Amino acid sequence: MVKQLFDRESCTYSYLLVDSKTREGALIDPVREQFDRDMQIINELGIELLYTIETHPHADHVTSSGKIRQMTGARIVFGENSGLQAIDILIGDQQELTLGNYQIRAIATPGHTSACTCYYVDGMVFSGDTLLIRGCGRTDFQDGDPGRLYDSITQKLFTLGDETLVYPAHDYNGKTWSTIGEEKKWNPRLGNNREKQSFVDLMNNLNLDLPKKINEAVPANTSIGVNFDPRRYLLHDFTMDDLHKVWRSLPENKLIMDNRTVEEFSRGHVPGSRNIPIGTENEHVDELKEFEQVYVYCRSGRRAQTAFTNLGLQGLDHIICISHSGMPNWIDAGYPVESE
Ligand SMILES: [Fe+2]
Repeated sequence: MVKQLFDRESCTYSYLLVDSKTREGALIDPVREQFDRDMQIINELGIELLYTIETHPHADHVTSSGKIRQMTGARIVFGENSGLQAIDILIGDQQELTLGNYQIRAIATPGHTSACTCYYVDGMVFSGDTLLIRGCGRTDFQDGDPGRLYDSITQKLFTLGDETLVYPAHDYNGKTWSTIGEEKKWNPRLGNNREKQSFVDLMNNLNLDLPKKINEAVPANTSIGVNFDPRRYLLHDFTMDDLHKVWRSLPENKLIMDNRTVEEFSRGHVPGSRNIPIGTENEHVDELKEFEQVYVYCRSGRRAQTAFTNLGLQGLDHIICISHSGMPNWIDAGYPVESE
């Protein structure tokens, strides 16, 4: 399922992709001002958000991906050519992300910016500002390069099938999607086999005004992440079985923390664990510091990882994260469950 979401002020499209069987989702190019709307949809539809995916560091709006990660544990994905630090997943050309039963394939498309990446899944390409409907992204800032943009579009996007649906990051005229075939034929900038030099000359003479928010958006979007080293997870690849061993004789100076929602916690949790729902952990830093060790778990491990990261940033280095399993595994193993 694809939901196309619109931000009126910046004319940005964000896309929520969902595998309706597994309820796992990804959100492409979320906009800061639309954070509440996006979170409401995600919660209403019961989506487990795995990723927020950026097509490039935007110059016209600020992303909400950092905030969404704090609330959902969704990992932030950027093209590796962005060279950004502190991003969860830097994805290379032709690498894939798994979303339920689907693979989302990254296509590096430098040109509008050197960091642009498009994403292909199931007959659709999310083209960012690389290819717009009857247009393309400008190339006059953020390492833009019209020659590279021409090559990215003609050699990469235009080689996708003509039927491929094109979902861009913007449209200023109310158009919502296109196809590769349409753009090859009717895109006025480089359709109909326009020559490279003619495209470069055109792009170099557009003389556009700078986006209103560029001075705010570019720095904000290139420092989305927090200091984050995913390798730390590997040191703490603790399972619910490991947690069970600890739980059997848990001393008072150790705490088991469940960071799922209040509702999930009340339906069943590890006996004696404490519920600190995701997004509220920073309010509990002082209490957590009192313990010698804190174990955090959730449903799948994703939210636990987020709390682990957020608390790590607050200087807490005594958290052990159950990073790839959670309450369902505890229940399946037949361990005792407490409910309220
Ligand atoms: Fe852009």
